[in-house]
Amino acid sequence: TKIAVFASGNGSNFQAVSDACRGGSIDGEIVLAVCDKPGAYVETRAEKSEVPLFSFAPKNFESKAAFEKKIVGKLKEHGVELIVLAGYMRLIGDTLLQAYENRILNIHPSLLPAFPGLDAVGQALAAGVKVTGVTVHLVDSGMDTGPILAQKPVTIEQKDTRDDVEAKIREVEHQLYPETVQQWIETIKESDERCLNER
Ligand code: GRF
Repeated sequence: TKIAVFASGNGSNFQAVSDACRGGSIDGEIVLAVCDKPGAYVETRAEKSEVPLFSFAPKNFESKAAFEKKIVGKLKEHGVELIVLAGYMRLIGDTLLQAYENRILNIHPSLLPAFPGLDAVGQALAAGVKVTGVTVHLVDSGMDTGPILAQKPVTIEQKDTRDDVEAKIREVEHQLYPETVQQWIETIKESDERCLNER
């Protein structure tokens, strides 16, 4: 399965998915990295992993539809079948949603539907919850909405600093995301085979 990873920042989840592809625990390969923040560290990671990069600045485009059209062109060029969002700080628009229906995954650092949007860890700390976690879900047009595929809890101890919680969440993400990507790849394959058999 040909995968594109979209990211805006550090890209540690890009790395986890890339490592899992190379190690064989994901039956796929990352054929394209897409970054909307030129200079973000994920670009260095892509380069080091020899993954082709499409980097763009949204401000150079007239509209979301315009840059998403350009992205879809790149995705088709590289034969991308599945999109993995990994800290891509932007809502996905109709152009991408229609081109990749049920084939866009996202990871979010909370147990959705709690704490959607920006700074989910800060929101959890402010709310004083003792348990937060990680969610992997299918992407729709909303902010961190869409059918949930997997979740894992992370406990917040009294003594935990924000950095401690971030680190625990990151560790869970790096395990849960590759695992769920692989499960979704299997689900897509099964449903494609069923479609073929019904013909
Ligand atoms: C992760 O916490 C992910 O859940 C959220 O953005 C963060 C990305 O981290 N959507 P990284 O860039 O993969 O290190």
